[in-house]
Amino acid sequence: MPSTETITLHNPLDMHLHLRDGDMLRTVAPLSAHSFSGAVIMPNLVPPVTTADDVKSYKERILSAIGKERFAPYMTLFFKPDYDSAFLESLRDDITAIKLYPAGITTNSEGGVSGFDVETLRPALEAMSALDIPLCIHGETNGFVMDREAEFIPVYEKLATAFPNLKIIMEHITTKESVAALDRFENLYATITLHHLFITLDDVAGGMLRPHLFCKPIAKRPEDREALLKVALEAHPKVMFGSDSAPHPQHAKESCGCAAGVFTAPIALQALAQLFETHQAPVEKLQAFISDNAQRIYGITPPKKSVILQKQPFAVPAAYNDVVPMFAGETIDYRIKEVIDG
Ligand code: DOR
Ligand code: ZN
Repeated sequence: MPSTETITLHNPLDMHLHLRDGDMLRTVAPLSAHSFSGAVIMPNLVPPVTTADDVKSYKERILSAIGKERFAPYMTLFFKPDYDSAFLESLRDDITAIKLYPAGITTNSEGGVSGFDVETLRPALEAMSALDIPLCIHGETNGFVMDREAEFIPVYEKLATAFPNLKIIMEHITTKESVAALDRFENLYATITLHHLFITLDDVAGGMLRPHLFCKPIAKRPEDREALLKVALEAHPKVMFGSDSAPHPQHAKESCGCAAGVFTAPIALQALAQLFETHQAPVEKLQAFISDNAQRIYGITPPKKSVILQKQPFAVPAAYNDVVPMFAGETIDYRIKEVIDG
């Protein structure tokens, strides 16, 4: 990216976002709503979002938390194998995707799926195919932590083959194996987070333990990060930005039994601008990665919003209320100069 003074991003989208509920929702939702046009909202509340009422009332709480910002919360349901086509049809206009968690794999996923038997999943997944509802998957097995994502690839392959008309989004990919799988199946897509483009396991645990960088899937090897960077910087047409910004209170991160999740929402666009500039990637690629690919893949038209980023030092706050962001206390190269509706 040429080092011009400002760059403008149109209608940025975060295709994987945790907003939580209650006080935390009121802290974090305005931060995303300020700089993004919309976001796919994860359903792993306690209890998870599984009913029409859950989806509608959670959306209302999000809209009330963001006040006057123009921002589309793209709602999701927490996948249950017993969803039938009548239920899904009745909710078609209220949801953008359904999120599948393997049982117990991460924060609040205890009610997820155990075993990936195609016949058990067939009724729900065929109904989703017919209604063109994308399936977002947290793709990890419960094997050795560094191998969980690569071990899950056969599940993606099985589902992609059995349900060829179902859009399957491999969420927050972290490995070169997942990047390679993208090109083998027409109906596989992926989101990539900010933190997995910046860090490897060394940054988390190579020196003093850095709990604010601990997340699931755990950051992997340098060659994995390189593979992610390549497809992000070239804006591979099947890849979208999804922050997986996952806020936890400071005491839950800086504790014995650290919660998984990196909070990136308020610094994501600034850090992405810096990353693309560092790698001399054209701004058009950043635009495709941050919005255009997602609009095409999901068939969505977000509210119009232009975010003007300026190349000027930005001192990242130590915390937003009691949530510590990535790069807390550090200075990054871009700041948000202005956000224009329209
Ligand atoms: O690090 C993570 N945090 N990974 C997830 O999959 C869930 C998320 C959360 O909800 O905290
Ligand atoms: Zn997530």
